[in-house]
Formats: sequence, structure tokens, C-alpha cells
Amino acid sequence: MSKVRFHGEKQYPLEMHKVRIIQKLTLLPVEDRAEAIAGAGYNTFLLQNRDVFLDMLTDSGVNAMSQEQQAAMLDADDAYAGSATYTRLEDKLRELFGMDWFLPAHQGRAAENIISRVLVRPGTVVPMNYHFTTSKQHIVEHGGEIAELIRPEGLEVTSEHPFKGNLDVDALRRLIAERGAEGVSYLRMEAGTNLIGGQPFSLSNLREAAGVCRAHGIPLVLDASLLADNLHFNKVREPACRDMSIREITREIADLCDVIYFSARKLGFGRGGGILLREEAMYKRMRGLVPLFEGFLTYGGMSVREMEAITVGLEETMDEDMINQGPQFIEYMVGELADRGIPVITPAGGLGAHIDAMAFLDHVPQTEYPAAALAAAIFLASGVRGMERGTMSEARDAEGVEPLADMELVRLALPRRVFTLSQINYAVDRIEWLYRNRGLIGGMEWEEEPEILRFFYGRLTPRTPWPAALVAKFREDFGDSL
Ligand code: F0G
Repeated sequence: MSKVRFHGEKQYPLEMHKVRIIQKLTLLPVEDRAEAIAGAGYNTFLLQNRDVFLDMLTDSGVNAMSQEQQAAMLDADDAYAGSATYTRLEDKLRELFGMDWFLPAHQGRAAENIISRVLVRPGTVVPMNYHFTTSKQHIVEHGGEIAELIRPEGLEVTSEHPFKGNLDVDALRRLIAERGAEGVSYLRMEAGTNLIGGQPFSLSNLREAAGVCRAHGIPLVLDASLLADNLHFNKVREPACRDMSIREITREIADLCDVIYFSARKLGFGRGGGILLREEAMYKRMRGLVPLFEGFLTYGGMSVREMEAITVGLEETMDEDMINQGPQFIEYMVGELADRGIPVITPAGGLGAHIDAMAFLDHVPQTEYPAAALAAAIFLASGVRGMERGTMSEARDAEGVEPLADMELVRLALPRRVFTLSQINYAVDRIEWLYRNRGLIGGMEWEEEPEILRFFYGRLTPRTPWPAALVAKFREDFGDSL
């Protein structure tokens, strides 16, 4: 779709697909939205989907499927062991990534569990471009620590750097010099780096990092969950990739890695996951954990229908027109927000638009969870459900000290091929209104704080009655509009 230019000055993303199945939505009045978010402990994870208008919580497992995926789902071979469906998935993965060994898992974090159990040696460090919540937790649970070696531009909110997900390879060299190669369990590279705004790494950065790993015998593990977005950005932003097909870029990336794991809730537009391995010995060390935690080796917790959908989805990921819809819609949304002066992460990444809550609510201290407050306020103002990606998503250390996040973000994920441009315009309009009234929004405190992955089901409460003030202002400005 990037190849179509509009005659007028303004350019729009243009979908190369049409919608043939719909799900009706409801938009509750603002008073009901206020009640719903209060009932959810001001945590958007705890909202009921029936109370949500546009669900931008995540792109995980909620991407629209193609008719080819749907058709394949009906043609599945249902068997506990030796299913032909599984063989089709395994063959497709081998073909695309060129690795001989595959272990299925029910989703991405299950793959992380298996990898951490086998590869993390207690007392060692796992360097990475940046952590993801579940990946960090699994490494820590198995006695490792993480070292985030993102290059400085990765943490700059506003930037023109095309590859903010790049690893600081010199920092990796220094870390290996300090700890010795035996003190480093593996290098984890995350494609489409989630928590810094869906930002990609370049192929050349990965190549340099892989060179260091090979020189020291350190395995390189790729989290390919958000690989589709990364591939799109390699293609459009990296001169060396411009004349390569998506399939060729995929293979170049894979050839640099020893292990590739993924959440198929993102990569492959289905629901599942797995681990690809280059070495049989490592495969054998991990293999026993699959029947223990996931299911037999030929399904690993996935349904045969989902495996068929993933096989087709992986092939569709090689089609530029299929993978550029997400990033181009996100670019449009980020551009519209930025034009209105709303602080957003730039350049636009994959996954979704990311609002800088620290700048949006510069009067709310980080200890009062500005990103959580803003996510609740956005729902109140619009019925749009985003996700807090800031201090609330961090975990307290062993002494109970809460680290303040590098960034306080509200992520508005755009599941692929799900929303229309007018829905995005609506979200932008309501967020602009909120920005004009941001002084009304206050901070949050815990009502109930779980010990592990607290952001998922913790409950917050506003420190002042600011939600009521926001509802009153909404009525004043919008009259009886929803
Ligand atoms: N790695 C990355 C980079 C992810 O974004 C996710 C999930 C996982 C691993 C874990 O995969 O959910 O299948 O177990 N991200 C989702 C999100 C939850 O909303 O960003 P999973």
C-alpha cells in the first residue's frame, strides 16, 4: 500500500484488503465508562470487553485473520501425536528460518520458561537490547539477572533514529570483558522492541552483535514475537535491505541466531508459540520440558486449528502488503497525535502508538503512576482501552524497592487489520480533548498490589476525585454526546 500516492497533499494509509466479517461495538455514555473503570480498579486489564469501544490493549491474539487462515483452520488434522497439521507448521518454520529443530509451546512466555530453565545459569547475566515483562521475570526466576544494553537513542522519546531497538554492541563487549563469557548465559535480542515503543533493530546491528557472540561462544536468542514489524522497518528504513524480499531479510536475520522463539499471538496472526533451534543438543535439553509444561511434542498446547492458521499466517508475513498495514496505520495515528502537540514516541514503531505520559501529565510524579492514570483517563474520555507501560509494569526488587521505569507510556496497540481510519480519528480527537484538559487528571495509588506481574491484575485508586471532575467537564464540552 506504500506504493499508492494520493493526488492531494495529505497522504493516507490504504488497506490492501477488504473487511468481510464484523463485530458490532457499543460505546457507553461517559458516566458508565467512569463506573466501569472504577469497578476495574482503574486497571484497563480488568475491564470487561463489553464495556470497551475500541480495544487497543494489545495486538496479541486479536489480529484479524485472512480468509486463507480461516479456511486452513477447517482442514486441520486432529491428533494428539503425529498430526499432519503439526508437520505443516514445522515444515513452514524450517523453510522460512532455516533451523532444523522446533519445539511448540502454547504462547511466547511458555517458550521463555523453557529457554530460561535450560539456558540461564544462576548468577549469570542475560544481556539484551531491552527487557519484556515476562522475559525478564522468567530469567530472574531462574537465578539470572538482566542487563539492558539499548543504545541511548532507544530511550529518547522524540527522535528520528530509524532503529531505536539497536543494541549497544560496545556495551556488550564491555560486559563480556567484565563478567567473562561464562558469566553470560546468552544474548537476547527482541525484534520490534515492545516496551520502548515497538522499535526495530537493524540487520547490521544484529550482525555486529552476532559476531561478538560467536567470538565468545555465547548463544544468540531472538525473541521474534514482533518480527513482522521489524521486517517491515528493515525493508523501508535500511538501505542494505531495500532490494531484498521480506523472505530474504527473514533468512538473513535467522542465520545470525542460535535460538528463535516467538509468540504466535503476534507472529503468524494466530494463538500459540514455539522455539526454533539450530543445534540438536540444545533441542534435546529443552525437549523434555514441552510434555511437562505444554503438551505432547506435536502440539505443545496449541489447538490444531490454531497451528493451521499460524502456518498460513507465517507465509503471509512474507508478503509486504500484509505486514505493512499495522506500521502504516500506526504512523498515521502517531502523526495525527504529534500534529496536535500530544507527546508521542517518534519515530512511529510497530505494535501501536505510544503516548509519553510523563510529558502529558508532567504535574503527576512518577511515584503516582502517571501512565496508569492516563490509561484510565483515556478510557473515561473515549471508551478506548490502552495499556500502562511504565512503573506499574515494573516489579519491586527483593528489598521491596520499586524501580521507576525509564519511560512512562500508554500504549494504544493497533491489532493488525482490525480498526478503520475513522475509528483512529475518533481516538485522536478524544485524546486531544483530554490533552487540553490534562490539568484535571491526578495521580494513583495502590488499592491491591500483587507480588508478581502486578500490572496484570493489581487494583489502583485515584488519590483525588479527579475522575468525577473529568466526567463533569466532558458533559460540559460534549453535551449529550457519547
Ligand atoms: N515477547 C514479546 C516481545 C512480547 O511482546 C510478548 C507478549 C511475549 C514475549 C510473550 O508472549 O503473550 O504469547 O506469552 N506481548 C503481549 C503484549 C502480551 O501485549 O505486548 P505471550
